[in-house]
Amino acid sequence: MQAFNLHHLEPIAAEKLAPSVYDFIAGGAEDEVTLARNRTAWEVLRIIPRVLVDVTSVDTSTTVLGRSVPSPVIIAPVALHRLAHEEGEAAVARAAASVGTIMTVSTMSSTRLEDVAQAADGPKWFQLYCYSDRAVTEALVGRAEAAGYEALVLTADVPRLGRRERDFRHGLSFPVDVMPVNFLDHLELASVPQDRQGSALAAYTASLLDPGLTWDIVGWLRSLTSMPLIVKGILSVEDARIAVDEGVAGIVVSNHGGRQLDGVPATAEVLAEIVDAVGENVDVLVDGGIRRGTDVLKALALGAKAVMIGRPYIWGLAIDGEAGVARVLEMLRLEFDLAMALSGVTSVSQIGRRLIRS
Ligand code: FNR
Ligand code: LAC
Repeated sequence: MQAFNLHHLEPIAAEKLAPSVYDFIAGGAEDEVTLARNRTAWEVLRIIPRVLVDVTSVDTSTTVLGRSVPSPVIIAPVALHRLAHEEGEAAVARAAASVGTIMTVSTMSSTRLEDVAQAADGPKWFQLYCYSDRAVTEALVGRAEAAGYEALVLTADVPRLGRRERDFRHGLSFPVDVMPVNFLDHLELASVPQDRQGSALAAYTASLLDPGLTWDIVGWLRSLTSMPLIVKGILSVEDARIAVDEGVAGIVVSNHGGRQLDGVPATAEVLAEIVDAVGENVDVLVDGGIRRGTDVLKALALGAKAVMIGRPYIWGLAIDGEAGVARVLEMLRLEFDLAMALSGVTSVSQIGRRLIRS
């Protein structure tokens, strides 16, 4: 079947992937209520377009943390790209660079962070999980900075892994040749017996990541690096304010694609109040369920500076490697361009709350 949109890619990718891998990517926590709501919350927002505006030329470009990007869609950090395609993160890096957007590379990448940096010279951010061993975390930050990553994205919503019951069913384990390789020293821990709720990822997280992190970590990270810091996983105005007080450059309003605490709101439901509280001080990004150019328009109308996408580019990667990822980014950019034209706006700066009704 031909894919005309991002939704069409998922079943095509599913046919190429082992069921355990497909479910790991597609799934969410527990009853997947938040996962589903991430979609419906974008869908129920309505756009109030203006007509008879000259939209002969529409400019989808913008800036994020001061860097210009051709469209406000950037690559969210996703673990273990090589589960989807043997070229994994390198293919994603080349695709992101070819369209000129930012790639956020996961701490749990299946290609070493230096090799991802080498694969293409497009802009990259490094997503950080903090290991209980602070020396390990410090080394990771230093390596990311040395490799040329432009920002550090601290993921704050994984003190423990959420209950992904699809993974329990499969007894998800890492294939021997696809591992979180940034810490080879710790690899043996990835094969801890699967008694931690039936998934090697849950075991890895529980044995290595620090469940004791507090906001003190932000000051500590800022003392280690001159890379600007972004905190990902914020859903409350209170936490957004603390992040700003701690001196971050950006936040990502995110519920981890519905994979962590089931029952939290969709990101589209909390974005506006968070932007109202801190949007003047920092760049507010959002992710979760962005599948259409109209979703991107709605997110920007609510005040997001840019959006991140997760699963859709992984489907593109599974289907056609680098070209598949580039296609996803281009499809979304073209849809966004059309959504702008049909809404009567020609530049991103004209997109505001007046375009939206909830
Ligand atoms: C993720 N996500 C994620 N986030 C993060 O900070 N570090 C990570 O390593 C991962 N790994 C990961 C693996 C997989 C398979 C998925 C689907 C997601 C969350 C990701 O960055 C993002 O928040 C969501 O994927 C956004 O939602 P959508 O676009 O997938 O709906
Ligand atoms: C996940 C982790 C790795 O969502 O962030 O699977």
